[in-house]
Amino acid sequence: MPIERCVLLDLPKISDPRGNLTFIEGGRHIPFDIKRVYYLYDVPGGAERGGHAHKELHQLIVAMSGSFDVVLDDGTGKKRIHLNRSYSGLYVCPMIWREIDNFSSGSVCMVLASITYSETDYYRDYSEYLSALKQSS
Ligand code: TYD
Repeated sequence: MPIERCVLLDLPKISDPRGNLTFIEGGRHIPFDIKRVYYLYDVPGGAERGGHAHKELHQLIVAMSGSFDVVLDDGTGKKRIHLNRSYSGLYVCPMIWREIDNFSSGSVCMVLASITYSETDYYRDYSEYLSALKQSS
């Protein structure tokens, strides 16, 4: 899957002097139904997460608080995207290698996922991921 398919999606934002509200409906604001939600928090300074690709999984990554960078890699090119808005989400399609770093202190990375957790959906070895890309092209 080309990296260009991974786009920043603007999420609905209801601005209010009492505080803003954002909502996400699966299949409407994002191109998949939501089967799972997980989040990264208490990330120590300098830590890196990710370092894998998924065979089938579609995801939306949102900086609920603070900021971090997502580095996307489709085996051909790389793109670094800084996330720091809770009303903007990065859609990541299957077969994209991703790394997440540069976490600010107190940041929370929320991920909406299209399937439940399955270790068999992961490529955790970069050369294995590249071979799989070659076989599918
Ligand atoms: P991993 O996906 O490697 O984390 P990250 O991409 O954020 O660095 O998952 C870390 C561990 O957590 C791994 O042992 C699998 C487990 N895990 C679950 O059990 N369920 C989940 O939904 C997720 C995302 C991870």
